[in-house]
Amino acid sequence: MKGGQAKTTLATNLAARIAKARRDILLIDADVQANVTTIFQRDHVCNLASVLSGQVQHLDFLKLDQHFYMLPSGGPSLVETTTQLSQSRYSDTLLRQLLTPVKHGIVIIDTAPSWNDLSRNVLMYVDYIIIPAVSDYLGFSGCDQVLSYIEKFRNQAMGQCNAEVLGIALTRYNPRTNLSQTIRKGLTERWPMLLFENAIEESVSIQEAPAFQQTIFDYRNGRTRGAQMYDTLCKEIMRRIAKRQKEKRNGASA
Ligand SMILES: Nc1ncnc2c1ncn2[C@@H]1O[C@H](COP(=O)(O)OP(=O)(O)OP(=O)(O)O)[C@@H](O)[C@H]1O
Ligand SMILES: [Mg+2]
Repeated sequence: MKGGQAKTTLATNLAARIAKARRDILLIDADVQANVTTIFQRDHVCNLASVLSGQVQHLDFLKLDQHFYMLPSGGPSLVETTTQLSQSRYSDTLLRQLLTPVKHGIVIIDTAPSWNDLSRNVLMYVDYIIIPAVSDYLGFSGCDQVLSYIEKFRNQAMGQCNAEVLGIALTRYNPRTNLSQTIRKGLTERWPMLLFENAIEESVSIQEAPAFQQTIFDYRNGRTRGAQMYDTLCKEIMRRIAKRQKEKRNGASA
């Protein structure tokens, strides 16, 4: 919901890191701003807008790298498609209907800073939600807001929404400022089980990489502090997913 929290930066770099670990990854751009699409400078007839509107029936993803696939957003046409979702027979579950048959290892969706029918569709499809938060006061309060929206939505969906919050990732952290440190302490106290231990600090390389159409792992051959920080965070995210999956399996077999 909140703008400028590093959602796109996290989604793109997490996807790239997983692809580098040789696991198939599909990155979906679900934002009209089409920032993921801009970073890779690739658009395609098969995009989220054309898929949701039924203009494209065969899902043909863009191949960015050996294990890295992408579905662009469709830019402005996604606005119209989103408004039409409410009239669809599957108003909240169209994305799930369309994507469930796609067996694509891991799917990561970069969302827009808004709450609308498309966000509802995303929540009905995904297993986990990661909330990036810039280490300032508005980032902190944005977490509160989005967590309560998710909770409310899950309650309304009455068991149909399986999306769980995987964690909160602190972004643009500045260890030298009192504000950043206070926000980190506040997040740790408020959501001890959610906050990822590894924060992403403010970094010039993270800001520069998209200008060169690169992820942080390709920019300067991945030899930057930004790449190191994202590598550590991505590993923590993947460990947490594995742990949650294991708990689910154990819960199911108990
Ligand atoms: N660790 C960082 N250090 C410095 N700049 C960063 C860092 N992380 C992200 N940025 C920059 O912050 C800006 C916002 O990041 P990004 O676009 O990922 O946020 P977003 O949450 O996707 O925004 P929107 O809500 O508009 O989609 C970008 O210019 C990005 O390069
Ligand atoms: Mg974005």
